[in-house]
Amino acid sequence: MNQWDLFLAPYKQAVDELKIKLKGLRKQYDVSEQASPIEFVTGRVKPMTSIIDKANKRRIPFDRLHEEMYDIAGLRVMCQFVDDIDVVVDLLRQREDFRVVEERDYINNTKQSGYRSYHVIIAYPIETLSGGTEILAEIQIRTLAMNFWATIEHTLRYKYDGDYPPQIQHRLERAAEAAYLLDEEMSEIKEEIQEAQKYYSKKRAKKHDND
Ligand code: GTP
Ligand code: MG
Repeated sequence: MNQWDLFLAPYKQAVDELKIKLKGLRKQYDVSEQASPIEFVTGRVKPMTSIIDKANKRRIPFDRLHEEMYDIAGLRVMCQFVDDIDVVVDLLRQREDFRVVEERDYINNTKQSGYRSYHVIIAYPIETLSGGTEILAEIQIRTLAMNFWATIEHTLRYKYDGDYPPQIQHRLERAAEAAYLLDEEMSEIKEEIQEAQKYYSKKRAKKHDND
């Protein structure tokens, strides 16, 4: 095992555990037949090359990565509706298995780029062979529409290194506006949608019983 694998091992552990815990929340809503504020959950450990790039850019010495780079462990929680995000954030604040150290509200404070999401940075305790330690992790909570936009924009950002031709820049702004409007429209018919989803999940459960 090389030094990087050793360094990243506790982050992998933290991401795996947090994925199970956050997905577990969704399962609890499902079994209690309540509409879940969580649609799906993803997680990743930042690749070594991205850690090195970011450390160089931010002038973070390698022996300070543990304290200063808070997104080596990253989780994403996708929601159907904008107000589900508050519910998820409250759930995170109430938990006793980690501590919220920072919140960044890029929903009420949309970034210049058009980026919207709610970020919660947590300190998550894990056990290792050499004792207990706390891992910083970034949980991004966003709607499916916000996620669609952010994913596309991230890909383009790579391609153009953030320096968009005016045409692309303009399209991205329009797309951000469209994603915002989509969230607004869906919120307007939230009750209707949830009723339909309840009906279908009951039907599915019944069919499953008969299988
Ligand atoms: P980095 O952006 O990660 O270097 O860190 P930062 O200290 O500037 O934190 P910030 O809260 O701005 O961003 C943290 C994370 O949010 C990023 O790593 C991305 O995952 C996401 N993010 C922030 N801004 C944007 C954006 O304009 N577009 C996209 N697609 N994602 C963004
Ligand atoms: Mg940034």
